[in-house]
Amino acid sequence: MKYKEIINKDFQDILGQDDTKKHLKSALLSERNIILVGAPGIGKTTLAKNVSKLMPKTGNKQAPFVRVQGSPDLTAEDLIGDIDPIKALKFGPTSKEAFSPGKIFQANNGVLFFDEINRCSEKLQNSMLQALEEKKVTIGSYKVDFEADFVFIGTMNPEDTSTEPLSDVFLDRFDLIYMEYPETAEIEKEIIHMSGKNMIDFPDKLMNVCLRFIRMLREDENVEKKPSVRASIGLYERAQTHAILSNRKNVSIKDVQAVLISVISHRIRLKPSIKYLKKPEDYVKEEFEKFCDKGGYL
Ligand SMILES: Nc1ncnc2c1ncn2[C@@H]1O[C@H](COP(=O)(O)OP(=O)(O)O)[C@@H](O)[C@H]1O
Ligand SMILES: [Mg+2]
Repeated sequence: MKYKEIINKDFQDILGQDDTKKHLKSALLSERNIILVGAPGIGKTTLAKNVSKLMPKTGNKQAPFVRVQGSPDLTAEDLIGDIDPIKALKFGPTSKEAFSPGKIFQANNGVLFFDEINRCSEKLQNSMLQALEEKKVTIGSYKVDFEADFVFIGTMNPEDTSTEPLSDVFLDRFDLIYMEYPETAEIEKEIIHMSGKNMIDFPDKLMNVCLRFIRMLREDENVEKKPSVRASIGLYERAQTHAILSNRKNVSIKDVQAVLISVISHRIRLKPSIKYLKKPEDYVKEEFEKFCDKGGYL
């Protein structure tokens, strides 16, 4: 097993997600190509970065983490490299000197992180397949052998409707590992304290109210796109700065209410059945008022 040193290590940057972590470990140990599937802001990038932290160091240097952003414009040359025509004339077309290496080579002995892999063209998917399987690539009429050795981790948002789904041939080369929203409000609170800016006192009870509201929106059947962990972190930070600007020493529910729309409404999408009747801004405002009325919070 190539990565056996990770067996007893923990992905400490990610709280909870025990199932995901176990699947990830087993996929790493069996040297699979991995796609993390989950909504935005769920910790995919953080988890993938954590993998590179656990990989063997070269000298004192942490294993590289190279990020590629999937997009329809991304080309095989961006990823793999390019033949420089002038150098090709000088040194010969198949010479090492004529080749300027792309991202794949920078990821050697580390992680190649391919964010939103489902956004890249079918042509690129195909050249990636060749790269992953044969460790050879064809650029133009050249065949380039490369020795880059890396863990491949892609990401995919299952609700991303702006793209064509990945082809079956492509998916067959990967294991998919699913990530969910933080399991409990307690875990989410810890995440917020760990990742958010702690500026002034945010009473714990109020924090519980905020989390209950956000987590309720995730369960709400009218809400198609759900508020992410980034939404919770955003609410935490913006409520604090709103209180600071209002010359107060601690956060109150009025601060939460004041920033709610700016933080939450664009992060959700309502189901078509209600979308045409109500704007998300109004929906969030009304739901929060109802929620506060019920709990006697306001
Ligand atoms: N389970 C978790 N444990 C720790 N941090 C988390 C977790 N889920 C989300 N986060 C935090 O939420 C933010 C967004 O995470 P990120 O990894 O960028 O998400 P994604 O890549 O899925 O969009 C980061 O600040 C991250 O630290
Ligand atoms: Mg990300």
